[in-house]
Amino acid sequence: MRGSKKVRAGVIGTGMGRYHMEGYLSHPKCELAAVCDINLERARALAAEYGAEQVFRDYRELLAMEELDIVSVAVPTYLHARMTIAALGAGKHVLCEKPMATKLADAEAMVRAARRAKRRLMINMSYRFSPLQQEMHRRIGSGELGRIYYAKSHYTRRNGIPLGANSWFVRKRAAGGGASLDLGVHAFDLVWWLMGCPKPAWVLGGVYSEMLPARAAQLGVEGDVDDLAAAMVRLRSGQVIFFEASWDGHQPGHEGYEIYGTKGGVSCRDWERGLKMTLHLEDSRGRSVDRPVKARGKSANACQHFVDVCLDRRKKMLASGEECLTVARVLDAMNQSQKTGKPVKV
Ligand SMILES: NC(=O)c1ccc[n+]([C@@H]2O[C@H](COP(=O)([O-])OP(=O)(O)OC[C@H]3O[C@@H](n4cnc5c(N)ncnc54)[C@H](O)[C@@H]3O)[C@@H](O)[C@H]2O)c1
Repeated sequence: MRGSKKVRAGVIGTGMGRYHMEGYLSHPKCELAAVCDINLERARALAAEYGAEQVFRDYRELLAMEELDIVSVAVPTYLHARMTIAALGAGKHVLCEKPMATKLADAEAMVRAARRAKRRLMINMSYRFSPLQQEMHRRIGSGELGRIYYAKSHYTRRNGIPLGANSWFVRKRAAGGGASLDLGVHAFDLVWWLMGCPKPAWVLGGVYSEMLPARAAQLGVEGDVDDLAAAMVRLRSGQVIFFEASWDGHQPGHEGYEIYGTKGGVSCRDWERGLKMTLHLEDSRGRSVDRPVKARGKSANACQHFVDVCLDRRKKMLASGEECLTVARVLDAMNQSQKTGKPVKV
């Protein structure tokens, strides 16, 4: 990357992409050079708001900008692989939104393209960047909870199917899957990453679409994805992760996890808003003690971190394409397990 000049970033997509723009601008060594969206009016408005000089409707024109170092891909999921592979081929580092792709083969192709181009590919597993989750990652990694042997994770909503303006989320061709991908990706990834990304062995899953057909019909929207998914993932090291994700169902929605270690456990509630994390330990007399976990200051957001790892290629990426490909493999196995009714090897 070029000497003392600022790193130049371009963002494709202006929904979630807006947060990428803000993220890049919050890094002192980065500037936002270009914005792209098929909704040109919105792209122009955001480029003006955030001071980007170039605005495009066609992402290929943005990728043709030689001076661009980094590209964010924040468009509907079916476009992730196509745009990511083209951006890597054009010599850019890519920060792509989650889930990686609609199909496992596409996610694999993205990782191959990054290797071929010798460029960095990171996926925005946004919850990993929370200062509290990072604090817990450090503590688990240092052995504070002993050996982790079991974890469960839930990301569920009540009557929360995205059927409005974002209705591409409910079409399989555009999204690849429903709650299983949209929320399941976080539900599995967060605890798996906290456990140190152990290799998965097999997945037994159930994937359902029981609420969506009637809700979509009521609004005249076409939807053909799942609204609830649950899976048990056996890891090669013997641990088990159970996770569930749903957009709808007759239950109060919640997000959180519980992680069981031989020396202590941790529970997390409401990671979307009002995050609370508690350590569950025993004192020297064997009495149960609960301690709230506090973060040590701030941590870099995903875009700041991505700029840092692109400036210094020796730095480890917090959510590399390769790591996230394993997450995609688990989600794919969960869907296959629904079809076969059996555990599926990963
Ligand atoms: N990390 C997270 O927690 C998180 C949260 C929300 C969404 N996401 C992900 O971000 C991605 C985008 O979701 P969103 O909520 O922003 O969707 P959105 O529909 O709000 O925005 C997508 C944008 O992409 C634009 N677009 C569509 N096709 C395009 C094309 N060919 N070229 C350029 N622009 C195009 C649309 O006009 C729209 O502005 C999805 O993959 C989603 O899963 C991630």
